[in-house]
Amino acid sequence: MNLRFCGYGSRAEFEQSVRIGMKNEIPGRPMFTMRPIGFIRSPFTETSQIPKGCGARHEAEGILEILPEFEQGLKDIEGFSHLYVIWVFDKSEGYELLGRPPTDTKPHGVFATRSPRRPNPIGLTVVRLLGREENSLRVAGVDMLDGTPILDIKPYLTSVPTEELRRGWLAEAEKRKGN
Ligand SMILES: C[S@@+](CC[C@H](N)C(=O)[O-])C[C@H]1O[C@@H](n2cnc3c(N)ncnc32)[C@H](O)[C@@H]1O
Repeated sequence: MNLRFCGYGSRAEFEQSVRIGMKNEIPGRPMFTMRPIGFIRSPFTETSQIPKGCGARHEAEGILEILPEFEQGLKDIEGFSHLYVIWVFDKSEGYELLGRPPTDTKPHGVFATRSPRRPNPIGLTVVRLLGREENSLRVAGVDMLDGTPILDIKPYLTSVPTEELRRGWLAEAEKRKGN
């Protein structure tokens, strides 16, 4: 393989990838393509409607609408109280490695925050499963916009004892704000 275009079959393939807008690809680094398994129905149409900052509580109900072709994959999900939803920040653009979250006045590294502006715009939300009807899961705790694509769902399980959890800069920010 031509080393200059490794990761692509040929110069023609590389040029094609640039033409279709994949300019950020780094030749030689693997890229991954994912498809949505479904979409979120949420009451939020604007990011300003979603609670933010210290003490924000996410109680809003929504529906995880799974595409019919993946419905079989929901078998036995009803037994779990909480789920991880892995999704795409499809309405955010670009990223910043340092940013000031709404919970603090100081900047923090993107990987120490839950910012939507990340190199890989992946969101992770823990929701409470309220019920299932065929390919629709009714959940509480959504913080995504209506129509957000879902990449995956997994049962929420944790084996980390509460006393071992540290909340980093967030604990300090909350203390400063008296939360
Ligand atoms: C701070 S992020 C946290 C999301 C998730 N719980 C996480 O930790 O990855 C939540 C914010 O993402 C933004 N957001 C929600 N859905 C989005 C979407 N589809 N595209 C871009 N931004 C979105 C909203 O501003 C919302 O308040």
